[in-house]
Amino acid sequence: MAHELMRFSVAMPEDLLMRFDRLVGTRGLARNRSEAVRDLVRDALVEAECATPGAEVYGTLTIVYSHHASDLQEKLHQIQHEHFSVIVSTTHVHVDAHMCLEVIIMHGEAALIQSIANMILGTKGVENGRLVVTTTGRDA
Ligand code: NI
Repeated sequence: MAHELMRFSVAMPEDLLMRFDRLVGTRGLARNRSEAVRDLVRDALVEAECATPGAEVYGTLTIVYSHHASDLQEKLHQIQHEHFSVIVSTTHVHVDAHMCLEVIIMHGEAALIQSIANMILGTKGVENGRLVVTTTGRDA
């Protein structure tokens, strides 16, 4: 798919531009303003799309818990089975003799994914976790 590049100029305060250039300098291969601005625009489009009511998104929920916590694994299993149509995959890592890390990949309506994540994060014994929601950004 060929995309013609369009040019436009941007005005911003000098100190903001200097800070932006420092940020661009910390990036990997694409260390130029144009690529950095394109990435920021794509991020904003993904964010807007995810915030659209009814949006279909992907969510990855990472949680850390102790497998010694009573009934916890059973409760987490139960929640995931109740929402089997949304849970795409779950990966379990035994971090050490006591702690487990799980990454739960979900696909579905944004509000439902957030509520399942809240349910899991709010389960007693889940020590920490974070939901990352994303999509292609092409329907924003
Ligand atoms: Ni484990």
